[in-house]
Amino acid sequence: MSEKTTGQIDNVMHEDRLFPPSEEFSSKAVIGSMDQYQQLYDAAANDLEGFWDGIAREDLHWFEPYDTVLKQEGHNVEWFVGGKTNISYNCLDAHIVAGNGDRTAIIWEGEPGDQRTLTYTELHAEVCKFANGLKSLGVGVGDVVSIYMPMTPELAIAMLACVRIGAIHSVIFAGFSAEAIADRNNDANAKVQLTSDGLYRRGKVLPLKATVDEALEKSPTVEHVVVLKRVENEIAWTEGRDHWWHELVESVDADCPATPLDSEATSFILYTSGSTGKPKGIRHTTSGYNLWAKKTFQWVFDWRPDDVYWCTADCGWITGHSYIVYGPMSAGATCLMFEGAPNYPAEDRFWDLVEKYKVTIMYTAPTAIRAFIKWGDEHVEKHDLSSLRLLGTVGEGINPEAWMWYHEKIGGGKCPIVDTWWQTETGGLMMSPLPGATATKPGSCTKPLPGVFPTIVDESLQPVGENHGGMLCISRPWPGMLRGIWGDDERFFDVYWKTVPGSYLTGDNARIDEDGYYWIMGRIDDVINVSGHRLSTIEVESALVSHDAIAECAAVGRPHDLKGQAIAVFCSLKGVEPSEELRQELKLHVRKEIGALAVPDDIRFTDAIPKTRSGKIMRRLLRDVAAGRKAVGDTSTLEDFSVLAKLAEDDEG
Ligand code: WTA
Repeated sequence: MSEKTTGQIDNVMHEDRLFPPSEEFSSKAVIGSMDQYQQLYDAAANDLEGFWDGIAREDLHWFEPYDTVLKQEGHNVEWFVGGKTNISYNCLDAHIVAGNGDRTAIIWEGEPGDQRTLTYTELHAEVCKFANGLKSLGVGVGDVVSIYMPMTPELAIAMLACVRIGAIHSVIFAGFSAEAIADRNNDANAKVQLTSDGLYRRGKVLPLKATVDEALEKSPTVEHVVVLKRVENEIAWTEGRDHWWHELVESVDADCPATPLDSEATSFILYTSGSTGKPKGIRHTTSGYNLWAKKTFQWVFDWRPDDVYWCTADCGWITGHSYIVYGPMSAGATCLMFEGAPNYPAEDRFWDLVEKYKVTIMYTAPTAIRAFIKWGDEHVEKHDLSSLRLLGTVGEGINPEAWMWYHEKIGGGKCPIVDTWWQTETGGLMMSPLPGATATKPGSCTKPLPGVFPTIVDESLQPVGENHGGMLCISRPWPGMLRGIWGDDERFFDVYWKTVPGSYLTGDNARIDEDGYYWIMGRIDDVINVSGHRLSTIEVESALVSHDAIAECAAVGRPHDLKGQAIAVFCSLKGVEPSEELRQELKLHVRKEIGALAVPDDIRFTDAIPKTRSGKIMRRLLRDVAAGRKAVGDTSTLEDFSVLAKLAEDDEG
């Protein structure tokens, strides 16, 4: 790309608001000042191996010490080579040994309102029993266990039991289809399938076991199915293959010592979508992953023993792996785990939970925040949220207006917000404010964590200047990084390492502003290029969402004869009817917020923005609709994408 084109990359979103942490927060924080952050950052920069060596010795239990901190051959890296540890030991036994076994590990609430709590000692016992149950089915080190379960404590127990005995789990979000399960099981060569009789979803029962039965017809590697009784519905049963969870753990030994595992042993694989249709099995390790999840949790969530921490994600996604189970539990945190939906039985369910369990740290997604805004403040105002002291977001950029709402309505204006940027591939948080140190700007994930070295380059691989967008890369290895795509080394190299030699390619575009703050501008293919001006979809969306009539919107590029690309936006409205007048008003609004170059050519109104099951906007589908490659109803009035979205779901999800 020439200097001229990079020079046209526009800094269209300007955010002046700055929110420094309060003195009160900083004075008690794990990292309480930018000086302290800088010291850590510099220590890692100057001696990466020494930095992680010091932390790893302290933070993980070693059955056998490692002899080499980091071994690097091209894009293949190994951390803590020669050492042996066990993630389940670090999450459970370590706390019992330290005398904290009576601390609550999980506070769980099911969708119908049923409740359970487990101390670390109780969780340890459940994990040991289930690990022995798995062993009795012949599961051992390196075997793949596929997990398709509701958000019950047993899901966490299953994950911890697998890593306890060196089995590799592959958690599949319990909304995926039989086809998707079969694809993943076949790719992973799964030996055992864990599931439940069913799942509660907004008062209905989803037949998980039936979906698994269908999937297993197409994934013959699975020898055993373990079924948790959750909803007591009728299910089909295959004698010899199927086992009830409660029967499996009845007769086994309660003692199951954690197996010492090589640092680089695969702990789990997790499938995620790439730019092609076939999902990638992202492979994570034992020591490096464990350390990354723990350390980032402690730094960013400023965790203290009396916190009640709630991550609203599902364990089917990386956020659930790293920030419901492995990060918080390695730290010894008390975690709220919730099975249901945010609007069942009513739109105040989350706030009811925060009040009831006196949640102090809440970690959720911008898509949820936008839904809450749409549902109305009255659902929030009914509840006492004063226990909250820290808020977080993950999964996509947060529009500044949604950030402000979260800050004011949920955080009462007093809670720092950590906007955490990371990926399935990175294992844990990479860029985020440190709540006791970093002054936040709504919409920016601020700065890299210690040990993270981002670079932003243009297409000719030259570093870009201030406020110029480019490809976000990570130039040095970090312990939590993925080690491969399951069974596909070539794709691993092609997707992440080929484009920018020596660096990990994130697939995101980003820019750094004049204060050294990072702004994620969406996926590389989400950038719209209008008459040579690059615009990020997030920036256009933020402008629109700041208009009162817009509940949620998605911007995509569509082909345009003169401009190359034009902007098409899909908007869902709150409290107003679609009209030509409103369309013109919105165009003016964008012109005012960003400038003429960002004014969308098309504005289309829709009932809801189509999303994948993980809550990501289905941009490929919208691009097709915007380009006229796919038709939906009458384009001048409200469109309902639900049917099309269903068809596209497995493709994009
Ligand atoms: C996007 C989720 C902006 C980004 C942990 C990334 C974000 C992809 C943020 C990874 C954020 C995640 N700001 N964008 N704070 N967090 N993303 O693998 O495009 O489901 O590459 O991991 O989500 O999604 P994944």
